[in-house]
Amino acid sequence: MSDVAECVERLEINGDKENDDVVDPWTVVSKSDSGIDYEKLIKRFGSSRIDEELLERFTRVTGKPLHRWLRRGIFFSHRDLHRILTQHEQGKPFYLYTGRGPSSEAMHVGHLVPFVITKWLQDVFNVPLVIQLTDDEKYLWRDVSMDSLASIVKENVKDIIACGYDVEKTFIFSDFQFVGKCPEFYRNMIRVAKCVSFNQAKGIFGFGDSDPIGKIMFPAVQATPSFSSSFPFIFGSANVPCLVPCAIDQDPYFRMTRDVAPRLGCQKPALMHSVFFPALQGARTKMSSSDPLSSVFLSDTPKQIKNKINKYAFSGGQASVQEHREKGGNCEVDISYQYLRFFLEDDDKLEQIRKDYSSGAMLTGELKKVLIDVLQELVSTHQARRAEVTCDVIQRFMEPRKLKFSF
Ligand code: TYM
Repeated sequence: MSDVAECVERLEINGDKENDDVVDPWTVVSKSDSGIDYEKLIKRFGSSRIDEELLERFTRVTGKPLHRWLRRGIFFSHRDLHRILTQHEQGKPFYLYTGRGPSSEAMHVGHLVPFVITKWLQDVFNVPLVIQLTDDEKYLWRDVSMDSLASIVKENVKDIIACGYDVEKTFIFSDFQFVGKCPEFYRNMIRVAKCVSFNQAKGIFGFGDSDPIGKIMFPAVQATPSFSSSFPFIFGSANVPCLVPCAIDQDPYFRMTRDVAPRLGCQKPALMHSVFFPALQGARTKMSSSDPLSSVFLSDTPKQIKNKINKYAFSGGQASVQEHREKGGNCEVDISYQYLRFFLEDDDKLEQIRKDYSSGAMLTGELKKVLIDVLQELVSTHQARRAEVTCDVIQRFMEPRKLKFSF
């Protein structure tokens, strides 16, 4: 059975009942304070868990220690990652593909999740990377002009470059700026669009009869970078598979892509899915730039970070100090602890914090202080790297060109 047919069947069996979490490219809402039930999501979406065996194989094949987000289950689900590892083991090439919908000038720390792991994967595997900025998507979904999107793209690209990619191995493009210049990309878009019926698009994305037809076509645009033939200046005529790191909200696009790939003579994209970096107010929803109070932005000052964490970060602590000392805090729902799981590198320190907070030895204010220090350091380092990204650097990343690989 195809990926799409399987998914529709699963949705009919398990999906969208009253108690299910809602997870799609536009909405992430859980019914539980501890957040999305990711095990259930794996079953509903039909992906596979990143288990111990896969992690061991990952370490063996790369010869490198695992990234903390793999060690800690933050990247928890995949499609076809074994195939990518086999490809690498056999000395055959693959590439990385990820993206961003440029909806506001400021990216938040949650956006670092796919971009930071992608940088790590690029270093570990030494492979080409393409990054798509879907300004067309945001034009279709939001009330925003094309002119203002051009400057949002530029600001977002600075944040992306600041994650440290190698310019000789990375091509960044915006759909508005690039697609018209590359007939091979456009042809693949139309090939994908021909393979997906309106009915299937409705089933996968929930489109309605009054949605603009541009929205219904858009999934073909996000699918197209999954095929190496869309970038002839990088891959020539080679049919190279790709690996897409993203949060699991983007999976519907790639279920569709995987379904059509064989019909186009292309390889199915492999995927690595992360959990969501939660909103400040709690794990029921993801951090999102459309809700500024839910987010710590990469442009925030140290003072703003301190105030936001102290004021809004949902606490799993008890109502009084005495009660907290007696009963301890709940790390599962505590946002400061959850953020440290993402950004504190030291496993031993994290475990000590978990023990101390759970036993009541550590108070909420003390936990928040640790997080504030970590985030202030992270954001100020990012801002310093971002300040070095000039217009010339942006242009070099965004020029369609051959990268440092031969195919
Ligand atoms: P966008 O801009 O909504 O998100 C960009 C990337 O960040 C991930 N993400 C998060 N990850 C963890 N925690 C969060 N709170 C969080 N919020 C967002 C998203 O999953 C995504 O990986 N349509 C896409 C743009 C796109 C794309 C792609 C994304 C085009 N091609 C290929 C991934 C892979 C979008 O609007 O992403």
